[in-house]
Formats: sequence, structure tokens, C-alpha cells
Amino acid sequence: MTGTTNEGPARARPDSRPPAAGLLQEAVRQALAAPSVHNTQPWRWRIGDDHVDLHADRDRFLPGTDPEGRDLLISCGAALHHLRVALAGAGVATHVVRLPDPEDRDHLATVRVVSGEPGPMDVALHNQLVRRHSDRRAYADGPVDAGTLDALVGAAAAEGGVLWPVLDPGRRERLLALLGDAATRQQDAPGYLAELMTWTHRYHNAHDGVPIDAVPRVSGTAVALPRRFPAGTLGPEDGCSIGAGTLLALCTRDDDTAARLRAGEATSAVLLTATHAGLASAPLSQAVEVATTRDRLRWEVLGVPEHPQLILRVGERPPGFPPLLPTPRRPLRFVMQS
Ligand SMILES: Cc1cc2nc3c(=O)[nH]c(=O)nc-3n(C[C@H](O)[C@H](O)[C@H](O)COP(=O)(O)O)c2cc1C
Repeated sequence: MTGTTNEGPARARPDSRPPAAGLLQEAVRQALAAPSVHNTQPWRWRIGDDHVDLHADRDRFLPGTDPEGRDLLISCGAALHHLRVALAGAGVATHVVRLPDPEDRDHLATVRVVSGEPGPMDVALHNQLVRRHSDRRAYADGPVDAGTLDALVGAAAAEGGVLWPVLDPGRRERLLALLGDAATRQQDAPGYLAELMTWTHRYHNAHDGVPIDAVPRVSGTAVALPRRFPAGTLGPEDGCSIGAGTLLALCTRDDDTAARLRAGEATSAVLLTATHAGLASAPLSQAVEVATTRDRLRWEVLGVPEHPQLILRVGERPPGFPPLLPTPRRPLRFVMQS
């Protein structure tokens, strides 16, 4: 799948003038709030007169954690969707060509400003870009209501994803067991623990990585399940169970680079829609990072023909939960490609 487009054919802006200077730059700046595996922010951007190019930054690839590079592409896809939402918030319609250069597969997308109105869904999500954070604490008991789940499924579908809520208690138990199994297997994967240490112990002013105040405080043990982050400082005490809330399996019909990029766009759409609905949310990628657990997820837990790309957890925050702080991001000048 090369050169895939979304909202119809590209139309030049009617007055043929490039968009106001600074508009594209501001939209890219807002897109930097996208979630990424270990907050690696594996992207580079180039801004033209009327378009923005998104490139993967392979220097930020995590071979021990993400041997197939799926998380990296999903992270970039989330940033691509964030960019479209940022431009929609500025009243700008876009035309996206994915994988525009067959000779450079790391050139993931070109987003061009076109005439017309931006999609209403993208406009509605704009305010959520700064409100969405990965919340690793325990959520309130009980599943998310059916109407909200439908909205999340629709948000994924609009981006080419297939979202399966895992509601059946037996399947949910099997999924939780798989997450634990993947976490155990990863302990022995070459490079995995070193990457976890590196990205949870960043040097002062690093502008990336998972900070200690984004990880729950845990009494008696230094393990926050299922990703074995070092215990953090985020309260309340012992608030790190993933038992409550609803688990969602984000899948795609294909399993190539284009599909994983689309999975990232769908991830962003689902997380921003959940934030819009007032829900807490967090990605969980371990079950898809390990090949055997990913297979079992597909056949034994979900039993669907689509390919699992990411697990998402959504749920209500218990009353009195303190708000989360934004995690660091690299400034624009660090992520621009010359
Ligand atoms: C592809 C992908 C995989 C991720 N996997 C996990 C995970 O397994 N466990 C977890 O706690 N967070 C996971 N995250 C969340 C990131 O750690 C988080 O997005 C990043 O630290 C930035 O923080 P923020 O989401 O609060 O902005 C993942 C995010 C992405 C995009």
C-alpha cells in the first residue's frame, strides 16, 4: 500500500497562496504531544510552503522492546493524526499521502494543506491534544458504557483500524494472563531491560523518556505491572492495578508498514475520543511486542482475522484522583529534519 490518501483528492488552495507563516510550525509543535513508546518520540519533520513531511527516526528504535518496529510506526502514526487534528483546530483541511516515496520507506507521510473544511471529528478533538495523558493508575470498577465504546470503535474505524472491546470475562482473564506472560518473557529478551532503564532514567533536561511522576507509587515492591517500570511517585499509593476499566484490542486488516501507520492514527483517534468523553486511558504494548503472545492474542483471546497492533485500557478515574502532569517533549528545533 503506497501513496495512500485519506479525505478525497488533493485540491490546491483557491488563492494558491501558501498558508500563513507559522501555521504549519505551530501545528507540528502541537503534534509533538502524541504518545510514543517509552516517550522516545521517534519522528522527524520537514515543513514546506504548503505541506509537512513526517519521517521515522530510526535512531530512536528500541530493538529489545519492539523488535519488529511496530511501536515505532504506531507512535509516528499517532503523531500524524495529532498533526491533522492540530491543523483542523486551526480551520485547515488536509490531504495525506502515506508512504509517498517508494525508495524511502522512512518517509511516512506528506500532509498537504488544501481548500475546504476540516473534518468535524478532527475539529472536535483539537482541545484534547493537551488533555490526553497515559494514566497508569487503577481505574474505577466497571466497564465503560456501551455508547462510549461505540464512539471509540467508530473513531478507530474512521482511521482504518478495527477496535475490539474485550468484554467477555473469560477472554479478559486470558488477555491479562497474556500481558503477564509477555512481561515475564521480556525480562530475558536481549536489550529489553537496558532500554527500560535508559528510558525511565533520563538525564536532566533530556526532554524524553518516562518520568518517575508518570508511574504509580507502589508499596512493598518496585514493580508496576505489567510493564516493569521502576516504582514511581504518582499517587495514590498502590494505585497500579490494570484490573478495572475496559481493555480494547486495536487491530488492522493488513500487517504491513502502512497498516501500522494507520494503527497509530487510530490509536490517537481512540485516545483523544476517550479523553473527550472524560475517560482515563493508557496504551499497553507488551502482548504485541512478543511474537508468541501476539499470536495467542489473535487466535486464543480475540479469535478474529485482523492483526492485533496495540492494547488500550480506558476507564473512569476514581473520584479525587489528582490530575496528571504532562510528560516532557523535545522542542521543535530538535525534531526538524534539514
Ligand atoms: C506504541 C506505544 C506503546 C506503548 N506501550 C506502553 C506500555 O506498554 N505501557 C505503558 O505504561 N505505556 C505505554 N505507552 C505509553 C507511553 O509510555 C507514553 O505515551 C509516553 O510515555 C508519553 O506519555 P503520555 O502518553 O502521557 O504523553 C505506549 C505508547 C505507544 C504509542
